[in-house]
Amino acid sequence: MKPYVICHMLGSVDGRIKQNIWGFKDHHKYFEETAEKIQADAWLVGRVTMQEFSSKQTYSLTHETTAIPKEDFVAKQPAKTYAVVIDPSGKCFWDTNMVSTEHVIEVLTEKVSSAYLAHLQSKNVSYVFGGKQELNLELVLQKLYKLFNIQVLRIDGGGHVNGSFLEAGLLDEFSLVLAPVADGTIGSPTVFEAEEGYGNRKATHFTIKSVERIYDDFLWIRYQVVKDNTTSR
Ligand SMILES: NC(=O)c1ccc[n+]([C@@H]2O[C@H](COP(=O)([O-])OP(=O)(O)OC[C@H]3O[C@@H](n4cnc5c(N)ncnc54)[C@H](OP(=O)(O)O)[C@@H]3O)[C@@H](O)[C@H]2O)c1
Repeated sequence: MKPYVICHMLGSVDGRIKQNIWGFKDHHKYFEETAEKIQADAWLVGRVTMQEFSSKQTYSLTHETTAIPKEDFVAKQPAKTYAVVIDPSGKCFWDTNMVSTEHVIEVLTEKVSSAYLAHLQSKNVSYVFGGKQELNLELVLQKLYKLFNIQVLRIDGGGHVNGSFLEAGLLDEFSLVLAPVADGTIGSPTVFEAEEGYGNRKATHFTIKSVERIYDDFLWIRYQVVKDNTTSR
């Protein structure tokens, strides 16, 4: 069993997601107020995005730590909603095990050191292993379901993490808040960053679940992912 997965993003008309030059005064609300309307047990982000929420301190790891087995760690703590980060090499550091009201779960590979695991345990941050060197995202979803009872998961970006789940065929819905701006920055991350060039992959198709005009000139489009892409339109 695995969670139902909804990817939620704020994008420009050209699919860019960094808002540096968009010039909105209250730019967080366009993403957050819509995200809050999607009922989910957890949100998940990539390591780059999570570093906006994790510790700003530099932690020096104690390398003489005794070896800690590479086994999943479910912290004893009261929260029932979660903030999950895809952090294969263990680059996020934590002062606390919470982001807002959500308990932090680190998704790691076995590349991480015992010293890093000791840091997570010292902060009572939960972690799961998703592979030895590379992540198996389907396995990750199964663990989130089984160990934390996460039945609905919202993936909140950035583009690389979205692209990984898209490529693995693990998205059920895509929720796009389309901002009325053209960005045009070459090289800036887009909503889905899956692969360089055109491989053998086929684009993912969607059908529309709902469309709503919000904040005057924004559109909130909710799409269902077409799982069997063989049907021609
Ligand atoms: N507009 C919006 O709605 C929105 C939402 C969220 C974020 N953002 C913006 O997006 C930007 C960040 O996006 P991003 O695409 O650069 O980064 P990201 O997706 O947040 O993080 C990418 C990192 O996550 C890890 N990762 C993701 N998928 C993986 C996989 N399948 N296997 C192993 N590791 C994986 C890797 O970490 P390592 O490098 O450590 O290996 C990778 O470099 C930020 O500027 C943020 O503000 C915008």
